[in-house]
Amino acid sequence: MITLTVDLDIRSYPIFIGSGLLDKTHLLREAITGSSAFIVTNETVAPLYLQTVQALLTGIRHEAVCLPDGEAYKTIETLDIIYTALLKGHYDRSTTLIALGGGVIGDMTGFVAATYQRGVNFVQIPTTLLAQVDSSVGGKTGVNHPLGKNMIGAFHQPRAVIIDTQTLDTLPDRELSAGIAEIIKYGLINDAPFFKWLEEHMDALLDRDSDSLAYAIEQSCRNKAHIVAADEKESGFRAILNLGHTFGHAIETGVGYGTWLHGEAVACGMYMAASMSANMGWLEQSALNRIRMLLHRARLPTTPPTALTPDRFRSLMSVDKKVIDGHMRLVLLRGIGQAEIVTDFDPDALERVLHNKVVA
Ligand code: NAD
Ligand code: GLY
Repeated sequence: MITLTVDLDIRSYPIFIGSGLLDKTHLLREAITGSSAFIVTNETVAPLYLQTVQALLTGIRHEAVCLPDGEAYKTIETLDIIYTALLKGHYDRSTTLIALGGGVIGDMTGFVAATYQRGVNFVQIPTTLLAQVDSSVGGKTGVNHPLGKNMIGAFHQPRAVIIDTQTLDTLPDRELSAGIAEIIKYGLINDAPFFKWLEEHMDALLDRDSDSLAYAIEQSCRNKAHIVAADEKESGFRAILNLGHTFGHAIETGVGYGTWLHGEAVACGMYMAASMSANMGWLEQSALNRIRMLLHRARLPTTPPTALTPDRFRSLMSVDKKVIDGHMRLVLLRGIGQAEIVTDFDPDALERVLHNKVVA
């Protein structure tokens, strides 16, 4: 087992990574502070892992709520199901919430933990690759609004993140690729040697080689923990984690939540950001080619949906948490491993990308 730490003073917490961690009772029990626990999961994950997690809680008062599955349910309405179950079960402020599932479950459970009785403890047990490398770490929680992705939310750090890599055995291939998108992101923004490692090990990752997956998860969590520790509430540097997200969120909202997977939209968005960087003369053509090739090898899209016109795309991009005082901020690339947050970008370079005119 590997243990990393997200270093945030009194709110520091461990990330445990290993195979079979859902059989290790003490990891979860040590993260539970009161005498009760409440599991939030969904109808897909519950039949696979709920019993195993419940077995870890013997002797602790607990129950579970099982939500409908999908990004389309990451809404204020679904939060109400969780709040109601907590209140009906008389769970008080000492309760620990447990998020068992992918990023959708993690984001909603975290938001309920941030707001239920003004804030309770919570633990992340991420079961998708995307959640294991990104969403379970860093304390961003929330839900979507019909007008914008992740627009309602709060920062609330978990007490622990328990990553059992065995849970990936049941993950569909398309979801595996979506997780690989966020892994590639760390290489692009911050870690050129990791990007090269990914070029060398992409086939092994797609074949679910356990050592390669474990290394990719560890390296991703290391990068994320470092960035979050430096800028917990995204006053600056942390925004590099949003490479491709302004484009990607526009795709997710524009085509309807759940039509494109989050990781697919981010992959396409990262390629659009890289193309824009190339259009501005920041990124070499050879680097852009490497990015396209790696995304394609990971079976990820690089072309935005034709249904989104440039006007609609631009308008969706303007509903983004990085927009400040009406100014759009984008994360662009100076090279592989070198992200930069910019407001004074060349608008023509953006227009060319929205019109699908990429330096090619
Ligand atoms: P998801 O939660 O919808 O999970 C994907 C699918 O896999 C679902 O159908 C789920 O039920 C299923 N599933 C989960 N674990 C499984 C398993 N072990 N075996 C079989 N099926 C399994 O999607 P996701 O990709 O995990 O997360 C995407 C969400 O995360 C988006 O809403 C995105 O906005 C959010 N996100 C948040 C952050 C953050 O920092 N908070 C970062 C990145 C993404
Ligand atoms: N996924 C972006 C962040 O955690 O900041």
